[in-house]
Amino acid sequence: MAFRLLVTAGDGIGPEVTREAVTVLQQVFSRSGKSLEVSEKRIGGIGIDTDGTPLPQETLEAALGSDAVFLGAVGGTKWNGLPPNTRPEAGLLQLRAALGGFANLRPAFSIAELAANSPLKLEIVAGADILFVRELLGGLYFGAPREWNRGTGEAWNTMRYTREEIVRVARVAFELAAKRGKKVTSVDKANVLEVSQLWRATVAEVAAEFPDVTLEHQLVDSMAMLLMMSPRNYDVVLTENLFGDILSDESAVITGSLGMLPSATIGGKVNLYEPIHGSAPDIAGKGLANPLGAILTGALVLRHSADMEAEAAEVETAVRKTLEMGFRTPDLVRGDGAGFKVLSTTEMGTKVREMLHS
Ligand code: NAD
Ligand code: IPM
Ligand code: MN
Repeated sequence: MAFRLLVTAGDGIGPEVTREAVTVLQQVFSRSGKSLEVSEKRIGGIGIDTDGTPLPQETLEAALGSDAVFLGAVGGTKWNGLPPNTRPEAGLLQLRAALGGFANLRPAFSIAELAANSPLKLEIVAGADILFVRELLGGLYFGAPREWNRGTGEAWNTMRYTREEIVRVARVAFELAAKRGKKVTSVDKANVLEVSQLWRATVAEVAAEFPDVTLEHQLVDSMAMLLMMSPRNYDVVLTENLFGDILSDESAVITGSLGMLPSATIGGKVNLYEPIHGSAPDIAGKGLANPLGAILTGALVLRHSADMEAEAAEVETAVRKTLEMGFRTPDLVRGDGAGFKVLSTTEMGTKVREMLHS
């Protein structure tokens, strides 16, 4: 039976990077004699413009009927004036809720060939390999009540978690840590927030089920600093929705660019795959976008949804080889760029496909 991938490329650079990732997946499936069925639907700003809603019903149904969903990015300046519940981003949040995946895995790693491109010192980033496990369906993103009361000039959002929501995402983090560096750093703001106190106590309970994995707690403000000072100290970093959003973008500094980082959301009905970056309106339509985060996201589709671990590793190796040979998109070049071959989005995708099976 064919593997059914629903592609929701979205806005800005979303379609540009998604095209490269999907072409890589098509090549991988065809080389392994497996069948891939790709269909495309609208989400985000393009959904608002065409269908009057950021998550058209047709897209939602297709997503629920697929084996995996690949999302490019949503949003853009054109829709910035809209209230949160009708913006392009609301379409993505509705999709996440409907698919039900609560554990968003965001690997942040230093690739040796790229370490020199990080604004951080080589000896600090070299060898860093962090896996963020970001809770994706709770916290401020989904808590009620939420409102901007224009009459009174007040606005509020609610940070809410239940014990069960924390237990299930913590188990994912510990299970993954048991298979890698055996350490979980749980990040919260337990010195101020009740929600964080529940988080900390619950994570400690779950830790007792995993005696081989070490647990440490860290407050989010100091964690933001420590991640940049000593990224190699961290293995699995477990945190709630908003803290995970912020810290994972910060960790893009370790790789040299936000355009490098993939993500996979697991635990629900259908897994959702997205590079962590946004629609990058400042570079959209110019061929400047780095497609490697999207291509590495494709590798996660192979690993977590298609049962094709060997092929996932091949894609990751192809990305490394491409970098080793000095190929770069402009976001990865610092200084005068001497010694690098600077490629457009499409050229970079083509280069990775050439490296695959070469
Ligand atoms: P962004 O991630 O779009 O861009 C931040 C900076 O990183 C920009 O300078 C951009 O040019 C650069 N960048 C991002 N991806 C890149 C890539 N692949 N290659 C090269 N450079 C890249 O964040 P933003 O500007 O804060 O947000 C723009 C829009 O994207 C907003 O509407 C936001 O809500 C949305 N957004 C969507 C998603 C998603 O759909 N998953 C994620 C984040 C942000
Ligand atoms: C991300 C994005 C989204 C988030 C937005 C666009 C809803 O920033 O995937 O990191 O905050 O989760
Ligand atoms: Mn984000």
